[in-house]
Amino acid sequence: MERKKFIKACGFACLGGGALAISMLEGCSGSKIIAGTIDHSDLVVPETVFVHGNSFHKYVVVQHAQLKYPVCVYRFRETEYTALLMRCTHQGAELQVFGDRLECPAHGSQFSDKGQVKNGPADTNLRAFPVTVKNNQIYISLK
Ligand code: FES
Repeated sequence: MERKKFIKACGFACLGGGALAISMLEGCSGSKIIAGTIDHSDLVVPETVFVHGNSFHKYVVVQHAQLKYPVCVYRFRETEYTALLMRCTHQGAELQVFGDRLECPAHGSQFSDKGQVKNGPADTNLRAFPVTVKNNQIYISLK
């Protein structure tokens, strides 16, 4: 291979790899993933998981070994949270979180931070769980 063609080919390969790495980092950099605990039929996380320096995380992703899909918990204010099952209502793929929206990597459906369908092919809102806060703990009812 000629030197010029070799350098050009390497340059494109590096650009491609760099773009992929950045895109992967963007996809997960804003997500705080934590392990919740189960208390009876509630998934429980401490309120402090939202603390981020002098402000708060907009959302956290909560996992537990007994859950097939994680739960994305959005914090709107001190006592207002939304807990959404990260299962696409189209064909069940696990969703990814991008700020105030959840996206399906399978066919592109998008949902709001309240679980409402924003773009199909999904036509059903996400499953949302009731949330209560007491004693600095967030209880997500999985009933
Ligand atoms: S499974 Fe999510 S859009 Fe199809």
